[in-house]
Amino acid sequence: MILVTGGAGYIGSHTVVELLEEESAVIVYDNMSNSSEKSLERVTEITGKNVPFVLGDVLDEKKLSSVFSEFNITAVIHFAGLKEIAESVVNPLRYYENNVYGTQVLLRVMAAHNVKRLIFSSSATVYGDPAETPIREDFPTGATTNAYGTSKYMVERILADVCRSDASWSIISLRYFNPVGAHSSGLIGENPSKVPANLLPYITQVAVGRLKELKVFGNDYPTHDGTGVRDYIHVVDLALGHLKALNQMSSTTGYQVFNLGTGEKYSVLDMIKAFEKASGKTIPYRIEARRPGDIAECYADPALAKKVLGWSAQRGIDAMMKDAWNWQSRNPNGF
Ligand code: WQD
Repeated sequence: MILVTGGAGYIGSHTVVELLEEESAVIVYDNMSNSSEKSLERVTEITGKNVPFVLGDVLDEKKLSSVFSEFNITAVIHFAGLKEIAESVVNPLRYYENNVYGTQVLLRVMAAHNVKRLIFSSSATVYGDPAETPIREDFPTGATTNAYGTSKYMVERILADVCRSDASWSIISLRYFNPVGAHSSGLIGENPSKVPANLLPYITQVAVGRLKELKVFGNDYPTHDGTGVRDYIHVVDLALGHLKALNQMSSTTGYQVFNLGTGEKYSVLDMIKAFEKASGKTIPYRIEARRPGDIAECYADPALAKKVLGWSAQRGIDAMMKDAWNWQSRNPNGF
Protein backbone atom coordinates (compact mmCIF):
# COMPACT_ATOMS: atom_id res chain seq x y z
CA MET A 1 0.00 0.00 0.00
CA ILE A 2 1.36 3.46 -0.93
CA LEU A 3 1.05 6.16 1.74
CA VAL A 4 0.54 9.58 0.10
CA THR A 5 1.14 12.42 2.54
CA GLY A 6 -0.57 15.61 1.31
CA GLY A 7 -2.59 13.43 -1.06
CA ALA A 8 -5.62 15.75 -0.95
CA GLY A 9 -3.60 18.64 -2.37
CA TYR A 10 -3.10 19.79 -5.96
CA ILE A 11 -0.27 17.51 -7.11
CA GLY A 12 -1.13 14.85 -4.51
CA SER A 13 -4.71 14.36 -5.72
CA HIS A 14 -3.62 14.13 -9.35
CA THR A 15 -1.04 11.51 -8.38
CA VAL A 16 -3.61 9.54 -6.36
CA VAL A 17 -5.86 9.43 -9.46
CA GLU A 18 -3.07 7.91 -11.55
CA LEU A 19 -2.10 5.43 -8.80
CA LEU A 20 -5.72 4.24 -8.52
CA GLU A 21 -6.06 4.04 -12.31
CA GLU A 22 -3.13 1.60 -12.34
CA GLU A 23 -4.71 -0.43 -9.53
CA SER A 24 -2.27 0.57 -6.78
CA ALA A 25 -3.54 0.44 -3.20
CA VAL A 26 -3.34 3.95 -1.71
CA ILE A 27 -3.96 5.69 1.58
CA VAL A 28 -3.95 9.47 1.94
CA TYR A 29 -2.67 11.26 5.05
CA ASP A 30 -3.41 14.99 5.03
CA ASN A 31 -3.98 17.75 7.61
CA MET A 32 -6.24 19.62 5.17
CA SER A 33 -4.36 22.90 5.83
CA ASN A 34 -4.35 23.73 2.10
CA SER A 35 -6.80 21.22 0.67
CA SER A 36 -10.31 19.83 1.17
CA GLU A 37 -11.92 16.41 1.40
CA LYS A 38 -13.88 17.50 -1.66
CA SER A 39 -10.82 16.78 -3.77
CA LEU A 40 -10.86 13.15 -2.58
CA GLU A 41 -14.57 12.87 -3.37
CA ARG A 42 -13.74 14.08 -6.87
CA VAL A 43 -10.92 11.51 -7.10
CA THR A 44 -13.52 8.85 -6.38
CA GLU A 45 -15.82 10.37 -9.04
CA ILE A 46 -12.99 10.16 -11.60
CA THR A 47 -11.73 6.66 -10.72
CA GLY A 48 -14.83 4.98 -9.29
CA LYS A 49 -12.69 3.96 -6.32
CA ASN A 50 -12.82 5.00 -2.69
CA VAL A 51 -9.73 6.66 -1.22
CA PRO A 52 -8.84 5.58 2.33
CA PHE A 53 -8.03 8.81 4.16
CA VAL A 54 -6.55 9.66 7.57
CA LEU A 55 -6.74 13.27 8.81
CA GLY A 56 -3.36 13.97 10.34
CA ASP A 57 -0.24 16.08 10.41
CA VAL A 58 3.25 14.75 9.62
CA LEU A 59 4.39 16.45 12.83
CA ASP A 60 2.07 14.17 14.83
CA GLU A 61 4.42 11.21 15.25
CA LYS A 62 1.90 9.13 17.22
CA LYS A 63 -0.87 9.51 14.63
CA LEU A 64 1.51 8.90 11.75
CA SER A 65 2.91 5.80 13.44
CA SER A 66 -0.60 4.41 13.95
CA VAL A 67 -1.13 4.50 10.17
CA PHE A 68 1.95 2.33 9.65
CA SER A 69 0.76 -0.06 12.38
CA GLU A 70 -2.73 -0.33 10.93
CA PHE A 71 -1.91 -0.57 7.21
CA ASN A 72 0.72 -2.53 5.30
CA ILE A 73 2.61 0.49 3.95
CA THR A 74 5.31 -0.49 1.43
CA ALA A 75 6.31 2.96 0.13
CA VAL A 76 5.63 6.65 0.79
CA ILE A 77 5.12 9.59 -1.57
CA HIS A 78 5.67 12.71 0.54
CA PHE A 79 3.81 15.79 -0.77
CA ALA A 80 2.78 17.26 2.60
CA GLY A 81 4.53 20.59 3.06
CA LEU A 82 4.17 24.36 2.77
CA LYS A 83 4.94 25.90 -0.61
CA GLU A 84 4.39 29.66 -0.70
CA ILE A 85 7.65 31.51 -1.35
CA ALA A 86 6.55 34.95 -0.12
CA GLU A 87 5.02 33.42 3.03
CA SER A 88 8.25 31.51 3.69
CA VAL A 89 10.25 34.75 3.65
CA VAL A 90 8.14 36.30 6.42
CA ASN A 91 7.62 33.06 8.40
CA PRO A 92 10.72 30.87 7.91
CA LEU A 93 10.37 28.90 11.17
CA ARG A 94 6.94 27.61 10.08
CA TYR A 95 8.51 26.38 6.84
CA TYR A 96 11.49 24.72 8.50
CA GLU A 97 9.26 23.07 11.12
CA ASN A 98 6.71 21.75 8.61
CA ASN A 99 8.95 20.91 5.68
CA VAL A 100 12.20 19.89 7.34
CA TYR A 101 11.22 18.64 10.80
CA GLY A 102 8.02 17.11 9.39
CA THR A 103 10.11 15.04 6.99
CA GLN A 104 12.42 13.98 9.83
CA VAL A 105 9.40 12.71 11.79
CA LEU A 106 8.22 10.81 8.71
CA LEU A 107 11.66 9.23 8.22
CA ARG A 108 11.82 8.20 11.88
CA VAL A 109 8.41 6.54 11.69
CA MET A 110 9.28 4.84 8.39
CA ALA A 111 12.52 3.44 9.85
CA ALA A 112 10.69 2.23 12.98
CA HIS A 113 8.33 0.25 10.73
CA ASN A 114 11.06 -0.84 8.33
CA VAL A 115 9.51 1.02 5.38
CA LYS A 116 12.43 2.33 3.35
CA ARG A 117 11.09 3.46 -0.03
CA LEU A 118 10.32 7.18 -0.31
CA ILE A 119 9.59 9.68 -3.08
CA PHE A 120 10.10 13.29 -2.02
CA SER A 121 8.35 16.30 -3.59
CA SER A 122 11.29 18.62 -4.21
CA SER A 123 11.55 21.72 -6.37
CA ALA A 124 13.68 23.46 -9.00
CA THR A 125 14.08 26.24 -6.42
CA VAL A 126 16.94 24.21 -4.92
CA TYR A 127 19.04 25.40 -7.90
CA GLY A 128 18.63 29.05 -6.87
CA ASP A 129 19.48 31.38 -9.79
CA PRO A 130 21.23 28.99 -12.21
CA ALA A 131 24.42 30.15 -13.91
CA GLU A 132 23.14 28.67 -17.17
CA THR A 133 20.07 26.93 -18.60
CA PRO A 134 18.71 24.34 -19.28
CA ILE A 135 19.28 22.98 -15.77
CA ARG A 136 20.74 19.50 -15.20
CA GLU A 137 20.54 17.50 -11.95
CA ASP A 138 24.32 17.82 -11.42
CA PHE A 139 24.12 21.64 -11.28
CA PRO A 140 25.01 23.26 -7.94
CA THR A 141 22.18 23.45 -5.39
CA GLY A 142 21.77 25.31 -2.14
CA ALA A 143 22.16 28.96 -3.18
CA THR A 144 18.46 29.34 -2.44
CA THR A 145 16.82 32.74 -1.96
CA ASN A 146 13.89 31.91 0.34
CA ALA A 147 13.02 29.57 3.22
CA TYR A 148 10.75 27.48 0.97
CA GLY A 149 13.60 26.64 -1.41
CA THR A 150 16.07 26.26 1.45
CA SER A 151 13.74 23.82 3.24
CA LYS A 152 13.57 21.68 0.10
CA TYR A 153 17.35 21.79 -0.19
CA MET A 154 17.80 20.84 3.47
CA VAL A 155 15.47 17.86 3.12
CA GLU A 156 17.39 16.66 0.06
CA ARG A 157 20.60 16.73 2.10
CA ILE A 158 18.95 14.76 4.91
CA LEU A 159 17.66 12.16 2.45
CA ALA A 160 21.11 11.73 0.92
CA ASP A 161 22.61 11.26 4.39
CA VAL A 162 19.96 8.70 5.37
CA CYS A 163 20.78 6.66 2.25
CA ARG A 164 24.49 6.97 2.99
CA SER A 165 23.92 5.70 6.54
CA ASP A 166 21.83 2.67 5.55
CA ALA A 167 22.08 1.14 2.09
CA SER A 168 18.68 -0.52 2.39
CA TRP A 169 16.89 2.81 1.77
CA SER A 170 15.65 3.69 -1.71
CA ILE A 171 14.83 7.41 -1.97
CA ILE A 172 14.06 9.60 -4.99
CA SER A 173 13.77 13.41 -4.93
CA LEU A 174 11.71 14.76 -7.81
CA ARG A 175 12.55 18.39 -8.59
CA TYR A 176 9.37 19.92 -10.02
CA PHE A 177 9.58 22.87 -12.34
CA ASN A 178 6.31 24.79 -12.62
CA PRO A 179 3.26 22.54 -12.22
CA VAL A 180 0.11 23.84 -13.99
CA GLY A 181 -3.16 22.59 -15.46
CA ALA A 182 -5.67 20.02 -14.25
CA HIS A 183 -7.11 16.57 -14.90
CA SER A 184 -8.99 16.58 -18.24
CA SER A 185 -12.29 15.89 -16.42
CA GLY A 186 -12.14 19.35 -14.84
CA LEU A 187 -13.17 17.73 -11.53
CA ILE A 188 -9.87 18.40 -9.72
CA GLY A 189 -7.40 21.22 -10.15
CA GLU A 190 -5.37 23.93 -8.45
CA ASN A 191 -7.44 25.35 -5.58
CA PRO A 192 -5.30 27.88 -3.67
CA SER A 193 -6.83 28.78 -0.30
CA LYS A 194 -5.65 32.42 -0.64
CA VAL A 195 -5.10 34.87 -3.53
CA PRO A 196 -2.85 32.83 -5.86
CA ALA A 197 0.89 33.55 -5.70
CA ASN A 198 1.48 31.48 -8.85
CA LEU A 199 0.94 32.78 -12.38
CA LEU A 200 -1.58 30.43 -13.97
CA PRO A 201 -4.11 30.17 -11.12
CA TYR A 202 -3.99 33.98 -10.96
CA ILE A 203 -4.71 34.18 -14.71
CA THR A 204 -7.60 31.70 -14.48
CA GLN A 205 -9.13 33.66 -11.59
CA VAL A 206 -8.92 36.85 -13.69
CA ALA A 207 -10.57 34.96 -16.56
CA VAL A 208 -13.42 33.75 -14.35
CA GLY A 209 -13.95 37.23 -12.90
CA ARG A 210 -12.67 36.65 -9.36
CA LEU A 211 -9.67 38.96 -9.83
CA LYS A 212 -9.53 42.21 -11.81
CA GLU A 213 -6.25 42.13 -13.70
CA LEU A 214 -2.91 40.35 -13.73
CA LYS A 215 0.20 42.10 -12.44
CA VAL A 216 3.20 41.18 -14.58
CA PHE A 217 6.18 41.26 -12.21
CA GLY A 218 8.83 42.93 -14.36
CA ASN A 219 9.45 43.23 -18.10
CA ASP A 220 13.13 44.18 -17.86
CA TYR A 221 14.61 40.70 -17.45
CA PRO A 222 17.27 39.49 -19.93
CA THR A 223 14.73 37.24 -21.70
CA HIS A 224 13.20 37.25 -25.20
CA ASP A 225 10.43 39.66 -24.20
CA GLY A 226 11.70 40.95 -20.85
CA THR A 227 9.27 38.92 -18.70
CA GLY A 228 10.13 35.90 -16.54
CA VAL A 229 10.68 32.57 -18.32
CA ARG A 230 9.76 29.22 -16.74
CA ASP A 231 9.35 25.51 -17.58
CA TYR A 232 5.63 24.84 -17.09
CA ILE A 233 4.69 21.18 -16.77
CA HIS A 234 1.20 19.67 -16.91
CA VAL A 235 0.24 18.31 -13.49
CA VAL A 236 -0.88 14.98 -15.02
CA ASP A 237 2.57 14.54 -16.61
CA LEU A 238 4.02 15.35 -13.20
CA ALA A 239 1.77 12.75 -11.54
CA LEU A 240 2.81 10.11 -14.06
CA GLY A 241 6.45 10.91 -13.30
CA HIS A 242 5.80 9.73 -9.72
CA LEU A 243 4.49 6.39 -10.95
CA LYS A 244 7.60 5.91 -13.08
CA ALA A 245 9.77 6.79 -10.06
CA LEU A 246 7.89 4.30 -7.84
CA ASN A 247 8.42 1.63 -10.45
CA GLN A 248 12.13 2.36 -10.78
CA MET A 249 12.76 2.43 -7.04
CA SER A 250 11.29 -1.04 -6.60
CA SER A 251 14.48 -2.41 -8.14
CA THR A 252 17.09 0.03 -6.79
CA THR A 253 18.48 1.32 -3.50
CA GLY A 254 20.29 4.54 -2.65
CA TYR A 255 19.51 8.20 -3.32
CA GLN A 256 18.47 9.51 -6.74
CA VAL A 257 17.38 12.93 -8.02
CA PHE A 258 15.40 13.75 -11.17
CA ASN A 259 14.14 16.95 -12.77
CA LEU A 260 10.47 16.78 -13.73
CA GLY A 261 10.21 19.44 -16.41
CA THR A 262 9.47 19.64 -20.13
CA GLY A 263 12.61 21.40 -21.36
CA GLU A 264 10.29 23.97 -23.03
CA LYS A 265 10.31 27.60 -21.87
CA TYR A 266 7.58 30.21 -21.84
CA SER A 267 7.58 33.83 -20.66
CA VAL A 268 4.75 35.47 -18.73
CA LEU A 269 3.54 37.19 -21.93
CA ASP A 270 3.73 33.86 -23.81
CA MET A 271 1.52 32.34 -21.09
CA ILE A 272 -1.03 35.13 -21.34
CA LYS A 273 -1.23 34.70 -25.12
CA ALA A 274 -1.49 30.90 -24.87
CA PHE A 275 -4.24 31.14 -22.26
CA GLU A 276 -6.22 33.69 -24.28
CA LYS A 277 -5.98 31.42 -27.33
CA ALA A 278 -7.18 28.35 -25.38
CA SER A 279 -9.96 30.08 -23.45
CA GLY A 280 -11.14 32.81 -25.82
CA LYS A 281 -10.86 35.16 -22.81
CA THR A 282 -8.88 38.42 -22.71
CA ILE A 283 -6.57 38.80 -19.73
CA PRO A 284 -6.06 42.45 -18.74
CA TYR A 285 -2.62 43.00 -17.22
CA ARG A 286 -0.35 45.72 -15.91
CA ILE A 287 3.46 45.73 -15.87
CA GLU A 288 4.72 46.13 -12.29
CA ALA A 289 8.13 46.05 -10.63
CA ARG A 290 10.02 42.76 -10.35
CA ARG A 291 8.94 40.48 -7.45
CA PRO A 292 11.74 40.09 -4.85
CA GLY A 293 13.38 36.65 -5.07
CA ASP A 294 12.29 36.00 -8.66
CA ILE A 295 14.86 34.89 -11.23
CA ALA A 296 14.87 35.66 -14.96
CA GLU A 297 14.87 32.19 -16.45
CA CYS A 298 14.49 28.60 -15.22
CA TYR A 299 13.87 25.53 -17.36
CA ALA A 300 14.89 21.88 -17.20
CA ASP A 301 17.11 19.53 -19.12
CA PRO A 302 14.73 16.54 -18.79
CA ALA A 303 17.13 13.97 -20.29
CA LEU A 304 17.96 12.05 -17.09
CA ALA A 305 14.33 11.22 -16.19
CA LYS A 306 13.78 10.06 -19.75
CA LYS A 307 16.88 7.86 -19.70
CA VAL A 308 16.52 6.34 -16.22
CA LEU A 309 12.78 6.51 -15.48
CA GLY A 310 11.58 6.18 -19.06
CA TRP A 311 9.46 9.30 -18.41
CA SER A 312 8.97 12.48 -20.41
CA ALA A 313 6.22 15.10 -20.46
CA GLN A 314 3.60 14.40 -23.14
CA ARG A 315 1.23 17.37 -22.75
CA GLY A 316 2.02 20.71 -24.38
CA ILE A 317 1.14 24.30 -23.50
CA ASP A 318 -2.24 24.18 -25.28
CA ALA A 319 -3.36 21.20 -23.15
CA MET A 320 -2.07 22.92 -20.01
CA MET A 321 -4.14 26.01 -20.78
CA LYS A 322 -7.24 24.13 -21.95
CA ASP A 323 -7.28 21.90 -18.86
CA ALA A 324 -6.56 24.78 -16.48
CA TRP A 325 -9.45 26.77 -17.95
CA ASN A 326 -11.76 23.70 -17.99
CA TRP A 327 -11.16 23.22 -14.24
CA GLN A 328 -11.57 26.91 -13.34
CA SER A 329 -14.62 27.56 -15.52
CA ARG A 330 -16.39 24.49 -14.06
CA ASN A 331 -15.33 25.42 -10.51
CA PRO A 332 -15.22 29.25 -10.44
CA ASN A 333 -14.91 29.24 -6.65
CA GLY A 334 -12.75 26.11 -6.40
CA PHE A 335 -14.10 23.07 -4.56
C1 WQD B 1 6.13 32.32 -12.57
C2 WQD B 1 6.46 33.58 -13.35
C3 WQD B 1 6.73 35.52 -11.95
C4 WQD B 1 2.53 35.63 -10.60
C5 WQD B 1 7.33 28.93 -7.59
C6 WQD B 1 8.18 27.96 -6.82
C7 WQD B 1 8.06 26.58 -7.40
C8 WQD B 1 6.63 26.19 -7.39
C9 WQD B 1 5.87 27.17 -8.29
C10 WQD B 1 5.26 25.36 -5.64
C11 WQD B 1 7.52 34.44 -12.68
C12 WQD B 1 5.52 35.68 -12.87
C13 WQD B 1 3.72 35.27 -11.22
C14 WQD B 1 1.91 36.87 -10.96
C15 WQD B 1 3.67 37.30 -12.51
N1 WQD B 1 6.15 26.21 -6.06
N2 WQD B 1 4.27 36.08 -12.16
N3 WQD B 1 2.51 37.65 -11.90
O1 WQD B 1 7.99 31.64 -8.71
O2 WQD B 1 8.55 30.38 -10.87
O3 WQD B 1 7.89 29.08 -8.87
O4 WQD B 1 6.01 28.47 -7.71
O5 WQD B 1 4.82 24.41 -6.24
O6 WQD B 1 8.80 25.68 -6.60
O7 WQD B 1 9.54 28.35 -6.94
O8 WQD B 1 6.19 30.43 -10.02
O9 WQD B 1 3.99 31.03 -10.91
O10 WQD B 1 4.92 32.36 -8.93
O11 WQD B 1 5.89 32.69 -11.20
O12 WQD B 1 4.20 38.04 -13.37
O13 WQD B 1 0.83 37.26 -10.41
O14 WQD B 1 5.28 34.39 -13.41
O15 WQD B 1 7.45 36.75 -11.85
O16 WQD B 1 8.30 35.05 -13.71
P1 WQD B 1 7.74 30.50 -9.63
P2 WQD B 1 5.17 31.64 -10.21
